[in-house]
Amino acid sequence: MAASPDADDVDMAELPLETRCPPSSLRQYGGFWWPEPILPGVVAARAGFGPRPSDVFLASFPKSGTTWLKALAFATLHRADHPTHSLDHPLRRRNPHDCVEFLEGLFALSPPAIKGGDVLAAHPSPRVIATHIPYSLLPERVTAEGAGCKLVYVCRDPKDALVSMWVFAKKMAAADEDGSPRDAFTIEDAFELFCDGRFPGGPQWAHVSGYWEASRRRPEKVLFLRYEEMLLDPVGKVRKLAEFMGCAFSEDEEAAGVGKDIVELCSIDALRNMEVNKNGTQKYAKNEDYFRKGVAGDWSNHMKPAMAARLDKIVEDALQGSGFTF
Ligand code: A3P
Repeated sequence: MAASPDADDVDMAELPLETRCPPSSLRQYGGFWWPEPILPGVVAARAGFGPRPSDVFLASFPKSGTTWLKALAFATLHRADHPTHSLDHPLRRRNPHDCVEFLEGLFALSPPAIKGGDVLAAHPSPRVIATHIPYSLLPERVTAEGAGCKLVYVCRDPKDALVSMWVFAKKMAAADEDGSPRDAFTIEDAFELFCDGRFPGGPQWAHVSGYWEASRRRPEKVLFLRYEEMLLDPVGKVRKLAEFMGCAFSEDEEAAGVGKDIVELCSIDALRNMEVNKNGTQKYAKNEDYFRKGVAGDWSNHMKPAMAARLDKIVEDALQGSGFTF
């Protein structure tokens, strides 16, 4: 993997360019491929973000369960202020992406932040902040020994992340620009780009293994979760998440089934049926587009077995010796 460049010294127009992956062009920076509109936010966050020891970061490769993790972590950490059953709960009024924002998104969209201010400075502690930034490119102030920040990573089968992004990208591409459809972006096109690592956040396996290695080195600071395991045992994973974030469920809360309530509030069906998620929008997509199937193994409905075998082999080879397997 390429060494991390100096955040203050990036000429974006000089970076390698990939134009075949809608909805936006990608640039390669620090060994990973970035949507052009987001990259300035990554660079600005590396230069200007001021972490607090109490910060909790939710990290992921795109389309790996970020929205779900945002909802679960937010509901868990803020359950004293926002009881799960409250009809006024923020997750009933706002999309999870409006409850927990992306670090690089905020820095990309907010000109004062790019000039060095910290757009998150006004947020009360403890802050929950999401990011798609790979571990090796996080601001050093976040990962430094003694920084105190905690990171929760969610990883997903690369084949499902690929299919999920392919569907999402076509919707995003169709939703903006001049209205012309992007049906021409086939699964075969997406597959070839993904296998080359030329996908938003890619290469996916390098993204995942960076956090996995960090979770082995610093288990008290980096929690590594798998989307597929969360589907199998959501309450157990929320319990683990609560313990990790320093807000473990009390005996009374366990007896009252608080973990189950949080899981129900954040289930894909509950979230997709909330009015805000039926009608609202984010900067680049409709809220409803973040809730599709929410299962493991949907790749088999879109990819041929030979494609799956080829990608599995690429990933296996790339991760050889790391000790990590999907
Ligand atoms: P699919 O497209 O495979 O259905 P991200 O949040 O990182 O963008 O990932 C999106 C994926 O997570 C989508 O997968 C989406 O359906 C799924 N998802 C969204 N909310 C979920 C939830 N509450 N529970 C489980 N999966 C969810």
